[in-house]
Amino acid sequence: MLIHKDFNLQDHHSFGVSVKSEYFSSVGSLEELQRALQYASDKRTPVYVIGEGSNVLFTKDFPGLIIKVAFTGVEIDQSSGVVRVAAGENWHSLVTTCMNSGLHGLENLALIPGSVGAAPVQNIGAYGVELASFIKNVRGVDISSGEPFVLNASDCRFGYRDSIFKKPEGANLLVSEVTLQLQEDWLPDLSYALLDKEFCETPVETPQELFSIVCRIRRRKLPDPKLIGNAGSFFKNPFVSASSLERLKVRHQDIVWFDTDNENIKKISAAWLLEKLGWKGRKHGGAEVSSVHALVLINAADASGKEISVLAQHMVTSVLEEFGIVLEPEVSIL
Ligand code: EPU
Repeated sequence: MLIHKDFNLQDHHSFGVSVKSEYFSSVGSLEELQRALQYASDKRTPVYVIGEGSNVLFTKDFPGLIIKVAFTGVEIDQSSGVVRVAAGENWHSLVTTCMNSGLHGLENLALIPGSVGAAPVQNIGAYGVELASFIKNVRGVDISSGEPFVLNASDCRFGYRDSIFKKPEGANLLVSEVTLQLQEDWLPDLSYALLDKEFCETPVETPQELFSIVCRIRRRKLPDPKLIGNAGSFFKNPFVSASSLERLKVRHQDIVWFDTDNENIKKISAAWLLEKLGWKGRKHGGAEVSSVHALVLINAADASGKEISVLAQHMVTSVLEEFGIVLEPEVSIL
């Protein structure tokens, strides 16, 4: 295990901005992780953990040790549908492997960037499905004590793009392995068909067809972080009361919104709010709002993290002023 000093993080996060960390280590085993943690403790330096860095925006150099979790390995128990995956595996590769092994459920989550370890942190979701419904347990290490932990799905306190790992009490929990419960029977969630005509127009009769449609929609609507720096949706879709939505509808009949489990709470499309305010394609330095999806900020021309965060802040301010709604970032801003 190597500890790099004064390390450029550009290739280790999906915004691709040029920032440095004081120290950097990619760890491939629990033993390497313990050694990296010991190093940080000896140096009395802060630690930040990344997977593929697809949900973080670095606005300045990081004065500490960045640990990249690179554990690999996938174990599939075909008969029970239980899949144990190491945190450093790529999420989309896992979706493909499970589908090709005849275990289903993850097809709606195809092509979400990032690693398996980051998936429960965000409770990744797309096209009507959230990861939380497939989690059996999450294993890892408390980086403050070095102690291992196992949390079952309810202990993970999953919510919309949220989990214990994003809360202060879970901030020291590094995910090393995720266990999923999948199904041999294919019980597709096609609820998103109501939102995208591609789902309505194309009959979906096999998991492979569902997987292909999801990939096609994502390629059409979202810029590929391998080609252009971005972190997917920069903001979460905000929740408002049903009565606030009624008031908004008086002025904006075309507002896009979604029901939630609670009939008094509605979710508003942040992309709609931003598009309505003309944010698509607007720039700040090298940072730009994607012209295909208003919720996605891109590193269009060698942007700094600061430029991206300033652009995001301007977007938040304009949504607050026009709609009285506070947009919260989905991306962790450092
Ligand atoms: N819309 C606009 N303008 C746009 C884009 C979308 O008005 O520029 C409206 C359209 O009416 C569209 C609706 O918003 O039908 C919903 O758009 P989309 O299907 O892209 O979904 P989203 O709510 O913007 C969420 C997730 C995405 C996920 C999609 C699909 C969040 C914050 N984002 O986006 O996740 O892929 O649903 O299920 O919940 C991510 O988290 O990084 C991410 C990309």
